[in-house]
Amino acid sequence: MSSQPVFWLRCEKKPFEKRAALTPTTAKKLIDAGFEIIVERDEQRIFDDSEYEAVGCKLVENNSWPSAPKDIPIIGLKELPVSTDPLPHTHIHFAHCYKNQAGWTDVLSRFDRGNGTLYDLEFLEDASGRRVAAFGFHAGFAGAAASALAFAAQRRGEKLGQLNPYANETAMIEDVKKKLGGSGKGVKALVMGALGRCGRGAVDLLRKIGLEEDDILKWDLAETAKGGPFDDSKIPSFLTHNTIAASGESRRLRVVVDVSCDTTNPFNPIPIYSINTTFSEPTVGVDLPSGLPSLSVISIDHLPTLLPRESSEQFSIDLLPSLLEFPNRNTVRVWTAAHKLFAKKMEEAKAAA
Ligand SMILES: NC(=O)c1ccc[n+]([C@@H]2O[C@H](COP(=O)([O-])OP(=O)(O)OC[C@H]3O[C@@H](n4cnc5c(N)ncnc54)[C@H](O)[C@@H]3O)[C@@H](O)[C@H]2O)c1
Repeated sequence: MSSQPVFWLRCEKKPFEKRAALTPTTAKKLIDAGFEIIVERDEQRIFDDSEYEAVGCKLVENNSWPSAPKDIPIIGLKELPVSTDPLPHTHIHFAHCYKNQAGWTDVLSRFDRGNGTLYDLEFLEDASGRRVAAFGFHAGFAGAAASALAFAAQRRGEKLGQLNPYANETAMIEDVKKKLGGSGKGVKALVMGALGRCGRGAVDLLRKIGLEEDDILKWDLAETAKGGPFDDSKIPSFLTHNTIAASGESRRLRVVVDVSCDTTNPFNPIPIYSINTTFSEPTVGVDLPSGLPSLSVISIDHLPTLLPRESSEQFSIDLLPSLLEFPNRNTVRVWTAAHKLFAKKMEEAKAAA
């Protein structure tokens, strides 16, 4: 067996998912560092197969990873399609099975039965506990774009139709500005959590579509802390049906994007909606007494997909230093900690089954 380190980039099967954990840029950097990069052909991915081929990746059939040699780590972005097949490989992706999500024990039991390993991308952290790579910035950026599109549709007396991923940031900004009649000048926006990754992305988009700086209200903990003390588990709601109704006919707030999407969480601080919206149905109306201006909510849980190229590039570049260390995963902290968490969750899943 060759000792050359290898990653196998699998295809994505989640509808609308065009992002990739490895981009041609990072694949090239890994190849330059001595890795072999195998890439499944994927029509769905924002990057063309030829872009990977051009930097020296080896292209293989779509969805062929189940028959890959067992010692090759498989990297992807989102969870695997639901199945009961055992998983014998080492997988790196967002599996969404560590927070008691629906079906979490089924997912972990596949690794147990196949003797495989999961390194969940959501839980790769540096020594200070900060995630090494996250999509937050582009979630905020895309969420703010979606809010502007919903606002523009409302102004035309319409409901926002299907959202489609943009080829690049320029195309997104041009489209949003056009739908707003040339610029977002005059529109006001409030960004909650403005100092965080999502918040910074939202502010960046709002500036780029032409909102004036004074019209972008940036709130973080300092601005919302007033009024406490609050108990630990539940903070007072930011918005409720009652506060919206009480603001009457002159209310100017027309669109809310809940990027956190804690839709069914009893502690959701924005308890004015109860479903996750989707790219095909991006908004849901808030139930309000008749005669009041409408209020749309966007609660899409994969917003960065709206800007797949830039969001993938940023995520993948942030992930790269950890990927370069993957051959030493049994001693390098970021990977040993992720493995320890996997083992812990596996025990919990067995106990819960
Ligand atoms: N919908 C999506 O597609 C998507 C994608 C990525 C992340 N997310 C979610 O977005 C959320 C934010 O992620 P992030 O990476 O930006 O986190 P982050 O930790 O970088 O930023 C959160 C910010 O919110 C602030 N904050 C916390 N509580 C607050 C309060 N009560 N009042 C005002 N500000 C407050 C924090 O101080 C911080 O600046 C997370 O819930 C994450 O899961 C959603």
